[in-house]
Amino acid sequence: MDSTQAPSTAARIYVAGHRGLAGSAFVRALRKNGYRNLILRTHAELDLAEGSAVARFFASERPEYVFIAAARVGGIFANSTYPADFIRENLAIQLNIIQHAYTVNVKRLLFLGSSCIYPRLAPQPIKEEYLLSGPLEPSNRPYAIAKIAGIEMCWSYNRQYGTRYLAAMPTNLYGPGDNYNLNTSHVIPAIIRKMAEAHEQGHSSVTLWGTGTPRREFLYSEDLADACLFLLNLPDEQFLPVANSQHEPPLVNVGYGEDVSIRELATMIADVVGFQGTIVFDTSKPDGTPRKLLEISRMTRLGWKPSVSLRQGLEQAYAAFRYERATLQRA
Ligand SMILES: NC(=O)c1ccc[n+]([C@@H]2O[C@H](COP(=O)([O-])OP(=O)(O)OC[C@H]3O[C@@H](n4cnc5c(N)ncnc54)[C@H](OP(=O)(O)O)[C@@H]3O)[C@@H](O)[C@H]2O)c1
Repeated sequence: MDSTQAPSTAARIYVAGHRGLAGSAFVRALRKNGYRNLILRTHAELDLAEGSAVARFFASERPEYVFIAAARVGGIFANSTYPADFIRENLAIQLNIIQHAYTVNVKRLLFLGSSCIYPRLAPQPIKEEYLLSGPLEPSNRPYAIAKIAGIEMCWSYNRQYGTRYLAAMPTNLYGPGDNYNLNTSHVIPAIIRKMAEAHEQGHSSVTLWGTGTPRREFLYSEDLADACLFLLNLPDEQFLPVANSQHEPPLVNVGYGEDVSIRELATMIADVVGFQGTIVFDTSKPDGTPRKLLEISRMTRLGWKPSVSLRQGLEQAYAAFRYERATLQRA
């Protein structure tokens, strides 16, 4: 392996999951920064859970850098209905990509995990070192354990083979291309859609689940993409101490650094959307964990911080929602 590992704009970069929320933001960031040799495959073109297909793909394309944003993801309902699919597909995707990235000598690899890898009752804000320090949230344990296995694979390959694999743990994301299906969506797209429709249809109230008091942290997907590009480009003297430690996993939290209550979030979205009715909280519905905030000092010490405020991000996400919906209606 040579010693300069940050990618040039001509580097061959494979983005796995490039049509998803995180992957599509990363592709936009790469293109904006002049990277011109992107390797992209849709799920239909390459099923990453199929080992032999992934082996052929890596052998023929020989990427130099790999970004793993492909995953089987979903909310509580999907996780609890299809736990076997969640653990099998996520383990398979990671196993195949990480193994074949090693086979073709990839220079750097960035694996996206999720904050659900941390114990359910982890102290707040959540530091990287809390990994495996307590029981996980039961509802998405198969998914979280698959992601933990991915981190452990990155760390093990780094130790045994001297690879340079990093695992980034993003907080809750939102942004263009988000999932607005109310059965499977996360909190921000769900509230945007409910409020936009209530506003358009002249409803006087919108009902949201829970008490509105849980606190959550949100990161705009383009900030995540910017953070990932920053990590991929770190000079070796900064990259290697994080990636190649013998004592701790190559793990970096990527968060916004501040949280808001669901009530504050809903009020802000109402303002962005122009909904002036009442926000009703259905307290018979569950709240989930009271607070989830990542501790992001490892990332800030490396020199990165988010630049899109929650208000700006919500305005941009709402504009993208309207645009996507208008495009769909025209089609
Ligand atoms: N969204 C969040 O709030 C959030 C927060 C923290 C961490 N993350 C992490 O970020 C990563 C990406 O999440 P996301 O929100 O961007 O998810 P997403 O929008 O669902 O995108 C995932 C992508 O992976 C692709 N994919 C899934 N299975 C595949 C397979 N077997 N072969 C090939 N492609 C496959 C999907 O393609 P198809 O749709 O065609 O199947 C999709 O394009 C995940 O690891 C997730 O845990 C997300």
